[in-house]
Amino acid sequence: MKRMAIVLAAGQGKRMKSKLYKVLHPVCGKPMVGHVLDTVKEVDCERSVVIVGHGAEAVQSYLGEAAEYVLQEQQLGTGHAVKMAKDLLGSEQGSTIVICGDTPLVTPETLKALTELHESNKAAATVLTAYTENPKGYGRVIRSENGSVLRIVEQKDCSPEEDAVREFNTGTYCFDNAKLFAALDKVTNNNAQQEYYLTDVIGILVGAGETVLGYMTDDYAESIGVNDRLALSEAERLMRERINKRHMLNGVTIIDPTSTYIGADVKIGSDTVVHPGTVLKGHTVIGEDCEIGPQSDINDSAIGDGAVIKHSVLDQAEVGSRTTVGPFAYLRPKAQLGEDVKIGDFVEIKNAKIADGSKVSHLSYIGDAVVGKNVNVGCGAITVNYDGYNKSITEIEDDAFIGSNVNLIAPVKVGKGAYVVAGSTITHSVPENDLAIARTRQENKPGYAEKIRARAKAKKDKQ
Ligand code: UD1
Ligand code: CA
Repeated sequence: MKRMAIVLAAGQGKRMKSKLYKVLHPVCGKPMVGHVLDTVKEVDCERSVVIVGHGAEAVQSYLGEAAEYVLQEQQLGTGHAVKMAKDLLGSEQGSTIVICGDTPLVTPETLKALTELHESNKAAATVLTAYTENPKGYGRVIRSENGSVLRIVEQKDCSPEEDAVREFNTGTYCFDNAKLFAALDKVTNNNAQQEYYLTDVIGILVGAGETVLGYMTDDYAESIGVNDRLALSEAERLMRERINKRHMLNGVTIIDPTSTYIGADVKIGSDTVVHPGTVLKGHTVIGEDCEIGPQSDINDSAIGDGAVIKHSVLDQAEVGSRTTVGPFAYLRPKAQLGEDVKIGDFVEIKNAKIADGSKVSHLSYIGDAVVGKNVNVGCGAITVNYDGYNKSITEIEDDAFIGSNVNLIAPVKVGKGAYVVAGSTITHSVPENDLAIARTRQENKPGYAEKIRARAKAKKDKQ
């Protein structure tokens, strides 16, 4: 059976009190509507239509080609919102999932079970419901004596008996596409909020003798609709727990899951250990057998097998297998480290390739550089890449040795196997296997220390 999805995302999200449009607020680093769309894709929806309104352009530019869009200019209610998709989907046959863009915790497994129950019973509608002692603000699911779903009543329209019902509508449904659009034509706005409620479709279908089912999830998290920042933080915590659990079940050791923050799209290989205080973000991919953290912040980076990253910040960096980084290193965009590289404490690398086996062990800045294999960069050596207007490249070829406290004034090249003496300021390229020394020659003045001390003491005594 053909499957489609309609994602409701036109509401303003006033209660977020934010400049950012509600469904674009991230949960574990990914906008809520991104979570919802990914979930929908996992149940083989061939078409996904997102109803946009407030912030339409921002939502479209974030989701791009992943969906089709319909603009709902005025937010007249969830039923009105779904109806906006009629031009695109009205003539389709099949199952249509309707889901809200602010329910990031609905899982693919639940959506699959809901859809399969719906399809195997040839139902007109199946509602995802949940149970809680405090269903404040949610629509109540009213069932008949034999347990079949009769209708959904919004809290604001509830009688006292209906208000006492604890089973509620999560806002996720599966519909027979043709029956959904036919029923929507009959929905009116004759209710407390004067809105066209999607939930009225349920009662309308039951009245027409159609099969309507309820599928209850026992995971309350799935029902959370994020309307304010409190719910956002709750969704964040629950999503974080879920992500950490998934990695642990896949063979990753997380020493302290409560202090480990892993983004929704991060991948980690087995037998990697993640230490406390670590934040892994974006599309970071980490290999097997790595040691990550403690206290590291890694964004959009690729890390090979067996790497060790301690107390460091990485952004859009690549780290080869068995390479060690930190403590206290900063790898900025386009830092590309080969295998068995060593980057030590207080080293900053930006837009620089450092090939296999090279070492930058302490207190260096390497920016806009190409460093060969087995190069040793001494303590405090830096590339001087910027003249206030232009960035220039430093090249250091294989097996070169850069002494401590060297300034390499770019553009400059140090040839293969060359040796740059500590304390040198290098302004001209160094040929292969040459030794470069660029500092004033040392002079010792015999006994002069005594003289200086005597002079200083005399000056003080005079005062
Ligand atoms: C809705 C349900 C309620 C359910 C709850 C679950 C209705 C009438 N009520 O209530 O039964 O318990 O969700 O979270 O459906 N939207 C539009 N256009 C509109 C109105 C809303 O796109 O004109 C979007 C919103 O952006 C949001 C979603 O639809 O993503 C739900 O709307 P919201 O106003 O939050 O509905 P609830 O009052 O929470
Ligand atoms: Ca809501």
